[in-house]
Formats: sequence, C-alpha cells, structure tokens
Amino acid sequence: MKSYTSDPAHWSRFAHIDPSKQYTRNLVYSVPGVFNLLLLVWNPGKESPVHDHADAHCLMKIMKGSLVESRFAIPSRPGEQGPLLQTARKEFGSDQVTYMADVLGLHAISNPHPTEHAMSLHLYTPPNAALRGCNVYDMRNGEVRHVRQDMYDSVGGRVGM
Ligand code: SIN
Repeated sequence: MKSYTSDPAHWSRFAHIDPSKQYTRNLVYSVPGVFNLLLLVWNPGKESPVHDHADAHCLMKIMKGSLVESRFAIPSRPGEQGPLLQTARKEFGSDQVTYMADVLGLHAISNPHPTEHAMSLHLYTPPNAALRGCNVYDMRNGEVRHVRQDMYDSVGGRVGM
C-alpha cells in the first residue's frame, strides 16, 4: 500500500458517495477468509463512530484529501468509567498509510475538510468484522454495542447489490 501512488483513474469507479451518511463503504474486492478491501468515501466534516477491529489487522491508505485518526483506550468496564480516554490524534495526508489493530486500542476517523470529500483504502485481514461485526463505543461514557459490518453501499463498483 505504501509503494502505490493514488491515481483516481484506478479507483474512481468504486467511489460511490452517499451524502446522507457519515461515510460510504464501497467493497472493492474480497477473498473470503483472507481479506477484504474497501474504498471509503468520507463526507465533508463527517466522522466514524469509535470502534474496534474485530481482532483483525487494518491498513488504511489515504487516496484523496486528508483524514484525522483519533485513538482511544479500550475501557476495561465499558459504560462505567466515564468518557473514553483519548491516547492519540494524528492527521494523515494523501498517500500516507497507517496501521490499526485491537492491541493499539480503538479509533475514530474523520474528514476535517468543510467542503471536500476524502477517500481512503482499507485492507482488513482476516475480514473478521464482515463475518462477526465489530464493537462501537460511545465517546461520552464508553458504552459499547455490537454492530454488523457486512453491509456495503456498493460492491465492485455497482450500487444496489
Ligand atoms: C475504519 O476502520 O475506520 C473504517 C470502519 C469501516 O470499515 O467502516
């Protein structure tokens, strides 16, 4: 992912945008049990919930714009310890790659730009979240709930699959 230089000619056909969402999840390719590759389109000023990564590795490469990653500690007693503890905050620009996994805690991703979309390529291996979902946390009180992650807004460049 580091050696690839982002070129919209390669990925724009996957970059479906749903303006009603925080971000749009587009499945580029998957090999069941091995990995899935998603192109996420981040609406201006929008953010993902704080979440874990279902015991998988996650590589994120910025394809367009920039994204802010905020990291948090996993609460030992979710919902009983007050607000999540933020451990890091970093902005990543075009073509930068970052790695995330549960051993590093939780994270939320946001697009800080007020008017421009941002795009990122995410590789999940193994694709655990697609099979068994992941946990999302309430930043204010650490409450946790389990969500499905097997829904895509487009698959292989096609919407409504
Ligand atoms: C992320 O890892 O921040 C993106 C979560 C997702 O796949 O929706």
